[in-house]
Amino acid sequence: MAACSASLSSFFFEYDTPRIVLIRSRKVGLMNRGVQLLILAYVIGWVFVWEKGYQEMDSVVSSSTTKVKGVALTNTSDLGLRIWDVADYVIPAQQENALFIMTNMIATLNQRQSTCAELPSAETKCKSDDDCSSGSIDVHGSGVTTGRCINYNAHVKTCEVMAWCPVENDTYVPRPAFLKAAENFTLLIKNHIWYPKFNFTKRNILPNTNATYLKSCIYDAKTNPYCPIFRLGQIVESAGQNFQQMAMEGGIMGIQINWNCNLDLAASHCLPKYSFLRLDNQDSSHTVAPGYNFRFAKYYKDPNGTEARTLIKAYGIRFDIIVFGKAGKFDIIPTMINIGSGLALLGVATVLCDIIVLYFMKKRFYYREKKYKYVEDYEQRLTGESRTE
Ligand SMILES: *[C@@H]1O[C@H](CO)[C@@H](O)[C@H](O)[C@H]1NC(C)=O
Ligand SMILES: *[C@@H]1O[C@H](CO)[C@@H](O)[C@H](O)[C@H]1NC(C)=O
Ligand SMILES: *[C@@H]1O[C@H](CO)[C@@H](O)[C@H](O)[C@H]1NC(C)=O
Ligand SMILES: *[C@@H]1O[C@H](CO)[C@@H](O)[C@H](O)[C@H]1NC(C)=O
Ligand SMILES: *[C@@H]1O[C@H](CO)[C@@H](O)[C@H](O)[C@H]1NC(C)=O
Ligand SMILES: *[C@@H]1O[C@H](CO)[C@@H](O)[C@H](O)[C@H]1NC(C)=O
Repeated sequence: MAACSASLSSFFFEYDTPRIVLIRSRKVGLMNRGVQLLILAYVIGWVFVWEKGYQEMDSVVSSSTTKVKGVALTNTSDLGLRIWDVADYVIPAQQENALFIMTNMIATLNQRQSTCAELPSAETKCKSDDDCSSGSIDVHGSGVTTGRCINYNAHVKTCEVMAWCPVENDTYVPRPAFLKAAENFTLLIKNHIWYPKFNFTKRNILPNTNATYLKSCIYDAKTNPYCPIFRLGQIVESAGQNFQQMAMEGGIMGIQINWNCNLDLAASHCLPKYSFLRLDNQDSSHTVAPGYNFRFAKYYKDPNGTEARTLIKAYGIRFDIIVFGKAGKFDIIPTMINIGSGLALLGVATVLCDIIVLYFMKKRFYYREKKYKYVEDYEQRLTGESRTE
């Protein structure tokens, strides 16, 4: 009982503290300061100055609208002299964050539901009705076969199909592009952004621009970097592509608007940065199925009441508007968190130096002896003591 209370009191009236070993060595001291300096440089240089660890961050929310201007004149054998304006070549009239401009096309006029000769190919060419099956559908063909072999033209006979006649001939893409003048069309982009965390809004038509400037300016990376009006040819060329080449078979262009802002500075320093790149496969070694095209038709009734249509295979360039950005503003919470983690990181210097001093240096046994106080096992000590007594 007495022994118990004695050990209890010795436990209670006790305080233990870790021992600190001060090593007076130029080598170890320099190493320690070097590691501390590296950590300090990382925390101050990288975390605070470069990554702005003292700021709260937010991602941009954006909406954009577009408007194209430009007129083209074409003169072809099937359509004759024709003017093309915005309503003709922007398809559809409105899209979200994108727009498609038709630059080339194959038009098949006055198609009606009837029977006619299929487009000549290895499978559809025939000599007599025996070469043609009846009622079969080829997914690559234009219609359902009737089983007859008829003249496609004076030289070639093909199997007859029930289809929208005459069938489309898209063997060759028109060269040069049908609407090659699209190179000089202009595109106005109106882009509104919002950083919800900071209640900060801005648009890409900057506050100091006036109406006369907006009517006449054209974007140029060097001389007019904040003009929101772009020449289509220039967008494509900025991405290192050839407009007339791209106009023939179509493609997809990305217009990137970067709104990275430091909101600790004045709002006038928050400015859009434009960049352009081609998004579809532009590798010249991949020549199978290049470009971008789709078909649509305009339906009407001819004077005697039969349904007819104009089929258009449209090639063109789709412009995707991609808005991204991050804004930062000073905030006490991330500042404190980063200071705290920076201080904690300084502890790494001690761990690293301990490992080197105690395991890798020449005098490691000496340092170890000084650092650790060696103690025998309790029972061993007791028996050892009793033996000596
Ligand atoms: C349109 O092309 C035809 C020949 O295809 C030509 O006779 C006519 O002069 C051209 N018109 C214009 C305005 O160029
Ligand atoms: C398709 O049209 C092209 C001209 O655009 C012509 O050279 C070709 O012969 C036509 N093909 C057929 C099978 O009619
Ligand atoms: C675009 O305009 C320039 C001058 O304004 C002209 O030289 C060029 O031929 C035009 N491009 C096309 C495809 O019409
Ligand atoms: C956001 O800012 C506008 C003025 O720019 C102000 O009228 C509005 O009250 C602010 N909203 C909030 C939630 O602070
Ligand atoms: C519009 O701004 C331009 C410069 O950006 C200036 O030269 C011009 O005088 C201004 N016009 C008006 C009507 O303020
Ligand atoms: C429609 O009328 C025209 C002439 O008026 C004729 O040539 C054509 O065959 C008619 N079409 C149909 C489907 O009856």
